[in-house]
Amino acid sequence: MEKFETVSHIRDFLQPIKRSGKKIGFVPTMGALHEGHISLIKEARNDTDVVVCSIFVNPKQFNNPEDLEKYPRDIARDIHLLEIADCDVVFIPSEQEIYPDDKSENFDFGLLENVMEGTFRPGHFNGVATVVKRLFEIVDPDNAYFGLKDYQQLLIVYKMTKDLKLPVEIIPCPIVREKNGLAMSSRNERLSAEEREQATLLYETLKMVKIRSGYASVGEISSFVEQQFRRNKFVKLEYFEIVDMYTLQPLKTWASSNNVIACIAAWVGPVRLIDNMIIFS
Ligand code: PAF
Repeated sequence: MEKFETVSHIRDFLQPIKRSGKKIGFVPTMGALHEGHISLIKEARNDTDVVVCSIFVNPKQFNNPEDLEKYPRDIARDIHLLEIADCDVVFIPSEQEIYPDDKSENFDFGLLENVMEGTFRPGHFNGVATVVKRLFEIVDPDNAYFGLKDYQQLLIVYKMTKDLKLPVEIIPCPIVREKNGLAMSSRNERLSAEEREQATLLYETLKMVKIRSGYASVGEISSFVEQQFRRNKFVKLEYFEIVDMYTLQPLKTWASSNNVIACIAAWVGPVRLIDNMIIFS
């Protein structure tokens, strides 16, 4: 596997590959890799000729300084996992390489960012879009792979790519879960064994929501979810929303959309987790 730390070196390597007509698949990450990331690498491996993974903990997308400081980092382990997964290129840039003049872009995602993560993490999606755009400029991929766990992020990246007419195909990939149902996330590393068990409440609740969507109203389900979380003193619900899959606007009735997803965010000890489940589409 080739390793690069500078923009000029990775460009010098990738540009001739692109010119030769080979397809580049790109998996942007913030490191602390897990099976969810590896599934993205595998998808890229299947679809494209050269697989590139970036590892960059992007300060611009952290609205909480403690979250940035505590974000798990283990580059040696990440490199080892990428080698096993048959990744071709890893890009591990410094902040200076990514933001030489420390400028942020100003995106307008309209209604997509006025809900859920957008409300609870102000500036987060602007930071995500800023870094994804910059990484796309550097890597110039044909395809880029994003997990459905960060569903709102996926829609934001779609919109940014479409609005700016970037020549990259965004490929959504399924959520990968631990055996107990907990959605894989780098932040899970910060959970104790006990907290990991408690954290399954997110997935368990989503499963019950899906079953209940067959007979209960949206309002009844929201009350049910709040009650579920009130009963558990280890897990604190931040939001639960039933929304349209494309506009992300909350639904009052099932009839108001044909494509519905339930999204949830909760704190387990000091760690904030998100998860979601498509209810119907
Ligand atoms: O999903 C992530 O890990 C990050 O938000 C991303 C897309 C790598 C941008 O920093």
